[in-house]
Amino acid sequence: MRLDQTSDQWWKTAVIYCLDVETFLDTDGDGIGDLNGVTQQIEHIAQLGATCLWLMPFQPSPNRDDGYDIADCYGVDSRLGTLGDVVELIRAANDRGLRVIVDLVVNHTSDEHPWFQEARRDRESPRRNWYVWRDEPSDEPEGLSFPGTETSNWQYDEEAGQYYLHRFYHFQPDLNVLHEEVRDEIARIMGFWLALGVAGFRMDAVPALLETAGIPVGEGHDLRAWLRDLRNFVGRRRGDAMLLGEVNVDPQQLAQYFGDHGDMLHMEFAFLLNQHLWLALARGEAEPLEMLIRTLPALAPDNCWATFLRNHDELTLDKLTLGQREEVFAAFGPDPDMQLYGHGLRRRTASMIGGDGARLRLAWSLLFALPGTPIVFYGDEIGMGENLDIPDRYAVRSPMQWSAEPHGGFTTGAEPVRPLPEGAFAPAEVNVDDQRRDPASLLSFIRRLIAARRRRPELGWGQVTLIETDAPSLLAHRTDWEGSTVVTVHNLGDADVRATLELGEEVVAVDDVLEEHAVEMGDGGRVEVELEAYGYLWLHLRRDGDRRLS
Ligand code: NOJ
Repeated sequence: MRLDQTSDQWWKTAVIYCLDVETFLDTDGDGIGDLNGVTQQIEHIAQLGATCLWLMPFQPSPNRDDGYDIADCYGVDSRLGTLGDVVELIRAANDRGLRVIVDLVVNHTSDEHPWFQEARRDRESPRRNWYVWRDEPSDEPEGLSFPGTETSNWQYDEEAGQYYLHRFYHFQPDLNVLHEEVRDEIARIMGFWLALGVAGFRMDAVPALLETAGIPVGEGHDLRAWLRDLRNFVGRRRGDAMLLGEVNVDPQQLAQYFGDHGDMLHMEFAFLLNQHLWLALARGEAEPLEMLIRTLPALAPDNCWATFLRNHDELTLDKLTLGQREEVFAAFGPDPDMQLYGHGLRRRTASMIGGDGARLRLAWSLLFALPGTPIVFYGDEIGMGENLDIPDRYAVRSPMQWSAEPHGGFTTGAEPVRPLPEGAFAPAEVNVDDQRRDPASLLSFIRRLIAARRRRPELGWGQVTLIETDAPSLLAHRTDWEGSTVVTVHNLGDADVRATLELGEEVVAVDDVLEEHAVEMGDGGRVEVELEAYGYLWLHLRRDGDRRLS
């Protein structure tokens, strides 16, 4: 019997939709989005074609880092709903074929978490060693997550009379994962959410979680073995559970988080691919992406990348050279107010690219064609822009724009949790309601792209090979899987280009997967392609004897 691999390792052909409950839809008029709002709009996500919903943190929190400062890992922020609402949402999602994954934020807690309160109060408390303390601050670990906002990884606590480690904000003390009780508790948290029906976790800050630099006791403990244990644990609790790790590290370090045999994280965010994608877009040249694709480590069959145009944080360009970063800044965020931490941009995809047009559609086509599982950040499917009046990274987390009504239809209350943008990206110009009715809209286009992506599992499973052409602006690559091939071509430049693709003599015909062009097959497996500025093309190759099924 042949198993259906595509549904077995579901994450390899998934399309993930990421949202923050707080900013999606408010159903009780308090100006704050809620879990019931997500449930109410689950069809929007299902009809987009997403197959997995990633919920950003919704646990109780003082909300100083938008919920990434959790004060109870087993609860729900009462402004957003209840545990019962979480279960209803998961059920509604599953009913539409959508799996739900949630953030697992266990590198740190909020300083208001009762564990930390107990720990700081008393050196003898059993919770003391759940965090990392020193009498004097250490130079380790090196580097800061929020340069300019934080100045050290160590914070003095009056009540404790010692310094504690925090790799992120000072109000986010790091948990001491060298302590067995902490590791047990983390497994318990995962078991809890799995029992409520989640299909996996977006693991926050994985390199920081596994980093022992600066922890005074028990150094040398192999935390990579622990990550493997966690992977086994989630697999025992729910066979198809998936771990997607936030791992923004140098290329040579990427493989270690997948494990030697792909037995640690299932997926890693493709930060390097993302940064080079923006550099390629800025230059109108394929080379930065080609170079990066050549450097990525080969992956075990269980593993894949999670690709994205934008996420909820700054568009980090921290792995580019200073000169390359300046190129991206100049092209997509020249104003200092658009930049953050000296290495990133606090803008959304559509506004950086200048709104809906050929270049924006090229970027989306590229996302769905690149190796990896695509993630759509809420609002990007309609081309929402940021609101730079909102400080910090929150500029890209303004409320979802459902309609041209006041506050974009997000709330019936007086004040939304964050202000919506004005001008070209205001709700009157960019909203779901208008775009749903318009077959030419960005929303309709992205739905078609997702449908095409889902029809062609080669893109999720296939072996990627770059195709050489003479045109520097063209990125051409093929993905081969089980004797079937998809070739995609993207023109990153602002001028028309022609190129000849050598597809192999056995290829007798090509089908245009996106159904936008008629493409003629030349002799000897050659195809002449002519792409307009920012044009793109996806071809499914037919060999002698292949049935025409697309
Ligand atoms: C990564 C998250 O994406 C970010 O939003 C958060 O501030 C940090 N981790 C700390 O949890």
